[in-house]
Amino acid sequence: MPSPTALCAGRVVAVTGAGRGLGRAHALAFAAEGAKVVVNDLGVGLDGSGAGSGPAHEVVEEIRAAGGEAVAHGGDIATADGAASLVAAALDSFGRLDTLVNNAGFLRDRMLVNLDEDDWDAVMRVHLKGHFLPLKHAAAHWRTEAKAGRVPEARVINTSSGAGLLGSVGQGNYAAAKAGIVGLTLVAAAEMGRYGVQVNAVAPAARTRMTEETFAGTMAAPGGSGFDAMAPENVSPLVVWLGSTASAGVSGRVFEAEAGRITVMEGWRPGPTADKGARWTPAEAGETATKLLAAAGTPEPVYGAR
Ligand SMILES: NC(=O)c1ccc[n+]([C@@H]2O[C@H](COP(=O)([O-])OP(=O)(O)OC[C@H]3O[C@@H](n4cnc5c(N)ncnc54)[C@H](O)[C@@H]3O)[C@@H](O)[C@H]2O)c1
Repeated sequence: MPSPTALCAGRVVAVTGAGRGLGRAHALAFAAEGAKVVVNDLGVGLDGSGAGSGPAHEVVEEIRAAGGEAVAHGGDIATADGAASLVAAALDSFGRLDTLVNNAGFLRDRMLVNLDEDDWDAVMRVHLKGHFLPLKHAAAHWRTEAKAGRVPEARVINTSSGAGLLGSVGQGNYAAAKAGIVGLTLVAAAEMGRYGVQVNAVAPAARTRMTEETFAGTMAAPGGSGFDAMAPENVSPLVVWLGSTASAGVSGRVFEAEAGRITVMEGWRPGPTADKGARWTPAEAGETATKLLAAAGTPEPVYGAR
């Protein structure tokens, strides 16, 4: 049984895609810190095909076996019904919702010229719409609470990716969706702060079915008892802290989290600039841009670019 002084004692947390991988690790970590957890998972394959309620129920059983409280939710979070019923599951089962972790997703990796419209739509849908809809429904609940004089200490943790922050060869759809999640995070943090809602994003890296084959070398577990750097459980402590009241004052930020490292990512900001005070000719614009580029820093490389 978690201690009443645990970091998330009394809080109710919904985690999307929590049947496997990072979401499962987050759900277990929140429960270990005293949270009651709504474990959402549609149980789809790595490319988004199929569906099944097994993974969500297994994680609920794990939490209960450890003395915690959890319920399963098997809805598709990229649908209005799925997102609304996720929030309803928290309210119906536990009477409140304090933290939403948007994490569910899948991949359809292809080089751009081979990327079908369906691969584009499916990945944009599950990641970008699958963040927007639960966020919208949770935010509507929290705004109602705030307007009724019960200002919450609500938290949202979105899941971006290094692919979204820097780009990643072969992942044009995924990188675009994960970059969009950063934009959504910034807007939601600015809009929802007045209602007691903090919104941040993490860009994780860990060994899950999404990465264990493509990045087999870097993701491998060490033999013996050494630190298993790429275990998904290493990402969860930051997510739990962001989802707790202890993170008060932190909103609109993006963190990379992997192994034992936490990094604050610093976003776009103006670099070298020039103002003619009038319209440039194309030749002048080119000459000026060339000078500015010479004075600018070198961008971080795109993942997978040679
Ligand atoms: N593993 C990494 O290194 C890594 C790196 C960067 C970002 N991420 C992101 O972290 C998140 C979790 O990924 P993971 O590596 O744990 O993958 P995973 O495949 O192990 O887990 C994702 C879970 O989401 C569920 N899911 C998919 N579509 C859903 C839907 N519409 N509704 C509800 N559930 C759905 C799946 O059934 C699966 O259990 C994803 O957003 C992923 O893009 C992972």
